[in-house]
Amino acid sequence: MMTSNAQTVLVTGAAGFIGSHVCEALLARGAKIVGVDNFDPFYDVNVKARNVAEIEKTAAKARGAFELVRADICDADAMNALLARSRPGGVIHLAARAGVRPSIADPVGYSRANVLGTSVLLEAAKRAGVSRFVMASSSSVYGNNPRTPFAEDHDVSFPVSPYAATKRSCELIAHAHWHLTGMPTACLRFFTVFGPRQRPDLAIANFLRLVSRGDEVPMYGDGASSRDYTYVDDVVRGVLASYDRIGEHGYRIWNLGGSSPVPLAEMIATIGRTVGRQPRIRPMPVQPGDVERTWADLTRSAAELGYRPRTPFEEGVRRQWEWLKAQP
Ligand SMILES: NC(=O)c1ccc[n+]([C@@H]2O[C@H](COP(=O)([O-])OP(=O)(O)OC[C@H]3O[C@@H](n4cnc5c(N)ncnc54)[C@H](O)[C@@H]3O)[C@@H](O)[C@H]2O)c1
Repeated sequence: MMTSNAQTVLVTGAAGFIGSHVCEALLARGAKIVGVDNFDPFYDVNVKARNVAEIEKTAAKARGAFELVRADICDADAMNALLARSRPGGVIHLAARAGVRPSIADPVGYSRANVLGTSVLLEAAKRAGVSRFVMASSSSVYGNNPRTPFAEDHDVSFPVSPYAATKRSCELIAHAHWHLTGMPTACLRFFTVFGPRQRPDLAIANFLRLVSRGDEVPMYGDGASSRDYTYVDDVVRGVLASYDRIGEHGYRIWNLGGSSPVPLAEMIATIGRTVGRQPRIRPMPVQPGDVERTWADLTRSAAELGYRPRTPFEEGVRRQWEWLKAQP
């Protein structure tokens, strides 16, 4: 067995929204980071380059070590070589094709990046003797679960989008892998994450731009559908806590949510107040693959991770708007 660099964490999806924040939080507590990202063109790669520049600034301030490797997580040779060289103590796997609606147009691409990519990384982690593996799942695995709030032991056998199906598949593959290898593995079900650097395809980022320009906002359905929005700093605290504690659990699924669902109409009104403009709404039919509501039961993650979301929705939207205004 190779000895690991216990302080080194391999973070996949490091150039992305959540990954870049996770890297900065790890640097702040003295970790060395090897980031992996292929700069997937799903959204503007300049946004990703700016995220990486922010991590590099934080690394310089913290006198920390951050290396970004441009590679595809589906490339088994590249992943095996990288893990053999860097010998990380653990892996935080956030790289994925994300998003419900685009997955309907490209289910094969989503399966490749998410299912194949996760399988490759789990295998590479096993070979390298990694001590723990934390990976992003999604609230979308709950589908149209009629029981609210959504708890980790609810039935998740009925995904309603290709994206959700890939994320549930990853949880199952990770379970089998843990059963056979004993490598502690956490699957984190994130609930609609927002804040600075949010993916530009997500509703809050998109609506902030539209409302501020005076453009119409598409409202899918009657505005009553709701999402349990989670501020990115809260999610990052949950990711780090799960990284620290997964060794005690073996295999564990945890919800990381905000635990106060916001109806779509209220979300749009909040954006209007934040940017100081009355939103103009264009009613649209409900989108296929979308779920009616998400709502995290946080009993397990509170008890086992000490996870408690701290950032109220309106405050988080304000911070995202302040960040967005400063972007080129
Ligand atoms: N943002 C949310 O609300 C949310 C909710 C639930 C789950 N998630 C999950 O959290 C994780 C991070 O999401 P995000 O919002 O930061 O997305 P993001 O798209 O900003 O980040 C993902 C990163 O992964 C990279 N990537 C994609 N395919 C890759 C590949 N084959 N090889 C290497 N890198 C690749 C992309 O270039 C991107 O930078 C994803 O796994 C996503 O499914 C996000």
